Amino acid sequence: MRGILLAKLNETEEFTEYMTRSRAAVEEALSGSIPLDWEMPASLRESMRYSLLAGGKRIRPILVLAAAEAVGGAELVPSAMPVACAIEMIHTYSLIHDDLPAMDNDDYRRGKLTNHKVHGEAMAILGGDALLTHAFHQVVQASRKHRVPTDQVLAIIEELSVLAGARGMVGGQAADMIGEQGITSLEQLQYIHLHKTGDLIVFSLRAGGRVAGASEEQLTALETFGRQIGLAFQIQDDVLDLIGDEQKLGKKTQSDVAQSKVTYPYFIGIEASQVEIERLTREAKEAIEGVNLASPQRLIELADYLMKRDH
Ligand code: IPE
Ligand code: IPE
Ligand code: MG
Ligand code: MG
Ligand code: MG
Repeated sequence: MRGILLAKLNETEEFTEYMTRSRAAVEEALSGSIPLDWEMPASLRESMRYSLLAGGKRIRPILVLAAAEAVGGAELVPSAMPVACAIEMIHTYSLIHDDLPAMDNDDYRRGKLTNHKVHGEAMAILGGDALLTHAFHQVVQASRKHRVPTDQVLAIIEELSVLAGARGMVGGQAADMIGEQGITSLEQLQYIHLHKTGDLIVFSLRAGGRVAGASEEQLTALETFGRQIGLAFQIQDDVLDLIGDEQKLGKKTQSDVAQSKVTYPYFIGIEASQVEIERLTREAKEAIEGVNLASPQRLIELADYLMKRDH
């Protein structure tokens, strides 16, 4: 018994170290991602860097790296870094805009004042615009610097524009805005969650797989995994908005209540939401276990980590 407990402890410690290492690698790459010799207004650069380097869990970029590792082994991880940075740029821009007074009107993010509170609304909007555009430049670097085949890079760009755009994250955000108060079914809410949050996570998995030359069958399994943990992730975000710790979250709780958002706990309650998160996580892991992958372990661990997260 003691032996099993110790083995479990070592596994957890090893995974914690993996996360710390991966986060540090992502942060370093992000820090160097806006070329110093590009001429631009200083306040625009500051707005971009303020949010991009404000911390955050870096879940999406780590999922890109872990998906590349799952398909092709650990030596594929460096080639996946430009795409990892790209998705974090898109995610960060979506948060800057999400916090604006015209949207969720929030004052804190990642433990700091929101971008518009520090840089003003105009520079927050423009900093977000610039991060969105720069993400596509980043993806191209996978080919320029790491020789990822151009047909894969082309497919990644195409999927990014679909999953981050009107048919993906932006569409989900628009439905979330239109839907405030007026949502009457769980299906409508699921549409919002699958797009505003799920699509960037699905992108991360598929794109990481593509860097490593995944087969169609592997891409489909990675997509199912992403779809299920993506939905679970937003349900968890809704739950944490109600019962989470502001200090740990780095953002104010009760934001959804203040904006009269309809959420999973609003519809089915906190306990049933937690049961749903566990069910979705189980299905995600089954999708990965049901297909041949070189090293799927990190993805499995990430799914469990996300299910238990408190921030
Ligand atoms: C917050 O995303 C917004 C959602 C899509 C729920 P994260 O919880 O990943 O935020 P950071 O990146 O860690 O700050
Ligand atoms: C945000 O959902 C989703 C995106 C930014 C695309 P929320 O509005 O619930 O995220 P938080 O709670 O502000 O992080
Ligand atoms: Mg929102
Ligand atoms: Mg919000
Ligand atoms: Mg939220």
